[in-house]
Amino acid sequence: MGDARTLPRRVLLGIAGGIAAYKTPMLVRALVKAGAEVQVLMTPSAHEFVSPLVLSTLSHRPALTELVDRQDGTERWNDHVRLARWADVMLIAPATAHTLAKMAHGLCDNLLLACWLSAECPVHIAPAMDLEMYRDPSVKANIATLKARGVRTIGPEIGELASGLNGEGRMTEPEDIVAALVAGLLHGSALAGKRLLINAGPTQEAIDPVRYIGNRSSGKMGFALAMEAAARGALVELVAGPVALAAEHPGIHRTDVVSAAEMAEVCKNLFPTCDMAILSAAVADWRPATIAGKKLKKNVGMNALALEPTEDILAWMGANKRNGQRLVGFALETDDGEKHAREKLQRKALDLIVLNTLGDPGVGFGHDTNRVTLIDKGTAAQHLPLMSKGEVARAVLDHCETLLNHA
Ligand code: CTP
Repeated sequence: MGDARTLPRRVLLGIAGGIAAYKTPMLVRALVKAGAEVQVLMTPSAHEFVSPLVLSTLSHRPALTELVDRQDGTERWNDHVRLARWADVMLIAPATAHTLAKMAHGLCDNLLLACWLSAECPVHIAPAMDLEMYRDPSVKANIATLKARGVRTIGPEIGELASGLNGEGRMTEPEDIVAALVAGLLHGSALAGKRLLINAGPTQEAIDPVRYIGNRSSGKMGFALAMEAAARGALVELVAGPVALAAEHPGIHRTDVVSAAEMAEVCKNLFPTCDMAILSAAVADWRPATIAGKKLKKNVGMNALALEPTEDILAWMGANKRNGQRLVGFALETDDGEKHAREKLQRKALDLIVLNTLGDPGVGFGHDTNRVTLIDKGTAAQHLPLMSKGEVARAVLDHCETLLNHA
């Protein structure tokens, strides 16, 4: 497994008008290379130092400056609230003396500042200015105010400045900003460095060389969990049934399987090495008792299909888990969901069960959204609203972090 310290996160990159802005195309490239989706926000004066076209090209999104864009006789509102909610992290680099002052005093005369005021995600600033400016008590006080409100600083460094002077005020190099950002985001996650087994998708149970029994699971929920866990620094063993999905993250090691028996074999081998397992796969409950070596003729098929149960992987793990190991199952119920899920939690010795109830619009197989209820041994059930599967993954993993903290 490679280096997991990458950043498949949504980053709002605010660029203020200072000479160090000329390095921001490299910063965008470094963020994208680390796995981030980047939305660039520029102050109007940043345009003097770096081309929005270059930033848009490298970030694959229009670099935004105005709260209202007026182009070709049309107007488009760049919704700062939506942008702020979209972001997992906001980075302001370079953060100039002027932008820092406005941030510290709640001024809001451009899109970057409107997003900053709306942001609930972690905010990092990479100050950059000449050494006398950086030394000025008002700048120091503004940075102190922002730090006291939870803003994290990256740099500045001591070195050669654009003025030709040498001193403190040089913006941290793009690669180092990304490294600091990753370290800052991983810091404090109970999943960082933990080994996590996640299974996902359906299984296929062969009837003969061309036919199988399957189900409609897309694997999207399990893959969202794997990506989010990797983003939090976990080393993920992803065991996937037949799905048409990619999970591009160096923290994810993927094994593809087809049948419930293969899924069971791989998962059981991996389980003892893991701190936690999340079983989101829709493993078949039955399989044909025999697999025909040749394609069955249609007139014999109906009578040839005797079924036998597959092994319940989750129940095996519940019976074999060691002290401190955490186990999360999924349940899909059509009626009396909470009651059945609680029974499963008990019976399979789970720490948490994620209940899906089929039937609501936007919920279940193939959808990008889901509505789930989280049930653990102690607290009351946590009913979550309809969310994207990415958001559900975050909520589930937030709960998993609590479980690990109490392991
Ligand atoms: N599961 C498993 N192995 C199986 C079947 C299911 O590990 N052979 C896991 C799934 O990955 C999921 C949970 O068990 O985490 C789902 O259980 P579910 O199929 O809803 O319940 P069952 O235990 O099969 O009970 P029932 O069908 O009676 O509801």
